[in-house]
Amino acid sequence: TCQLDKWAKAAGLKYFGTAVDNPALNNQGYMKIARDTDEFGSITPANGQKWSNTESSQGRFSYGSGDAIANIAKQTGQLLRCHTLVWYNQLPGWVSSSYSKDQMQRIIATHIQNVAGHYKGQCYAWDVVNEAVEDDGKMRQNPMYKAMGIDYITHSFKIAAQTDPTAKLYYNDFNIERCCNAKINATYDMIKTVKAAGARIDGIGMQGHSRVGKSPSKKELKDTMAKFSQVVDELAYTEIDIRHLKLPASAADNQQQAKDYLEVVGACLEAPKCVGITVWDFTDQYSWIPGQYSGEGEACLWDRSYNKKPAYSSIVSLLQSA
Ligand code: G3I
Repeated sequence: TCQLDKWAKAAGLKYFGTAVDNPALNNQGYMKIARDTDEFGSITPANGQKWSNTESSQGRFSYGSGDAIANIAKQTGQLLRCHTLVWYNQLPGWVSSSYSKDQMQRIIATHIQNVAGHYKGQCYAWDVVNEAVEDDGKMRQNPMYKAMGIDYITHSFKIAAQTDPTAKLYYNDFNIERCCNAKINATYDMIKTVKAAGARIDGIGMQGHSRVGKSPSKKELKDTMAKFSQVVDELAYTEIDIRHLKLPASAADNQQQAKDYLEVVGACLEAPKCVGITVWDFTDQYSWIPGQYSGEGEACLWDRSYNKKPAYSSIVSLLQSA
């Protein structure tokens, strides 16, 4: 039979995973696939664990949305990729730019101690810091950076390591897939700096949101992974989707999409440190793309009626032959 995680594991990866968002939880057809452990060996909450969901007002923690997704993994035995502790987006308004360095240090520590503490032992990995670097290679001017400079990243990883010592600690970002741009170079330098300051960073998550026909080649992907392999023990594609720019996609467009997905899967298989691939949801029904990029989409492996696309069978064939 044709199943993603089963063949990904046979090919030597740790998992093939998917993001799951809370609105999908009451969709039985969806959940049957999401909970199929031969299909997906790992689950990532698409929104449930983010700061705006877990600590929307200071010191008041709520885990309902995150737990609802984490419980799937608990029940099925799937790995849980936890996402994300410190990010400029979906950051509640109270985490503003008005804090001193000391105050921000305490705010971050309290957030991580509570949230990572709540999920302690459940997370295969935590995306500790998300999207801290801009495309031009400068550090993103978010409230944490404004208060602490790059020390906020070191601090976040140190607190995460103390709080959940067995979780793999990841830095996660987009546009760091195709070798080599200013953002990749800056990310590499930032990881070195933070590790030199005494923090543990186990992995780099390359999100992998891309566009059909413009997606990176296996060679470009492998070149980046060779560079990142110098500074971390693990690499993963954490949020793969490959969107069409014109809808509806033609059969030829979907063949191209299949090729583009294969470059990513092939690169991961050939990179010694690449442990797994996560798609940023598996069906177009719940994809974030149309909400963000009007007129674009159909980026997932299943369409909105739960038909598998050519990319699905291509990936399974590649995994089977690996
Ligand atoms: O919860 C509110 C709801 O109350 C309100 O009625 C509704 C109206 O807009 O919005 C809801 O919030 C939405 C939220 O998802 C929860 O569904 C936000 O508008 C929407 O912007 C938000 O989008 C999420 C996005 O992150 C935010 O940047 C996507 O679902 C989520 O898939 C996406 O995931 C990110 C990763 O975390 C990091 N990498 C990029 C990736 C794609 O943007």
